[in-house]
Amino acid sequence: SNPVIVAIDGPSGTGKSSTSRAVATRLGLSYLDTGAQYRAITWWMLSNGVDVTDAAAVADQTGKPAIVASTDPAAPGITVDGVDASGPIRSQEVTAAVSAVSAVPEVRARMVEIQRAAAAAAPAGIVVEGRDIGTTVLPDATVKVFLTASAEARAARRSGELGGTQSVADTQAALIRRDAADSGRKTSPLAKADDAIEVDTTELTLEQVVDRVVELVAQRR
Ligand code: C5P
Repeated sequence: SNPVIVAIDGPSGTGKSSTSRAVATRLGLSYLDTGAQYRAITWWMLSNGVDVTDAAAVADQTGKPAIVASTDPAAPGITVDGVDASGPIRSQEVTAAVSAVSAVPEVRARMVEIQRAAAAAAPAGIVVEGRDIGTTVLPDATVKVFLTASAEARAARRSGELGGTQSVADTQAALIRRDAADSGRKTSPLAKADDAIEVDTTELTLEQVVDRVVELVAQRR
């Protein structure tokens, strides 16, 4: 049968990564975290002294780092110029700078190219998570899901992931700022595709969300 392409978009803290990895594992598909790619190029810019608020400077350097993401749901990870960047890309510095870097059209053009190549190379198909997968990267996806959750639930989840290093209130403020920037940018903003199915995860367990997505794939494949 044809490769299955599952696009999972939505704001931060809605459970995209956990859901996408689990769906890929259950269905024997590859998995790609596109947010990790934007974080990786942001980490490289910061490490190399590029002023991330200067879009022209960011655009100028966009082609330099080699960014390679694993597509194995059992072993996700990302390297930048051969160095494992999986830890550093989750730092608060990267999180605070990533929306500015990912708004630069040249950065998006390069990432979209890498993402489409990964999808085309996946033998059985792939689950791709991000902000613009259903609208821009893979508009012909088999299934498009748009995950949402209340601001409180999203902040509580993210704060838990950070191991309590940041208060829930601070986490919530930072999430809301980042989502506003991601939704408001000109080039492929965070948006629900017209044909995406919205799933509100506020009151659902991970297991329930995964079941729902697997069911949607079964209906369409
Ligand atoms: O998913 P995650 O929170 O790790 O994404 C980090 C950032 O990367 C987002 O806030 C957004 O600025 C950017 N991003 C994007 N398009 C995607 C995935 C992530 O612009 N497809």
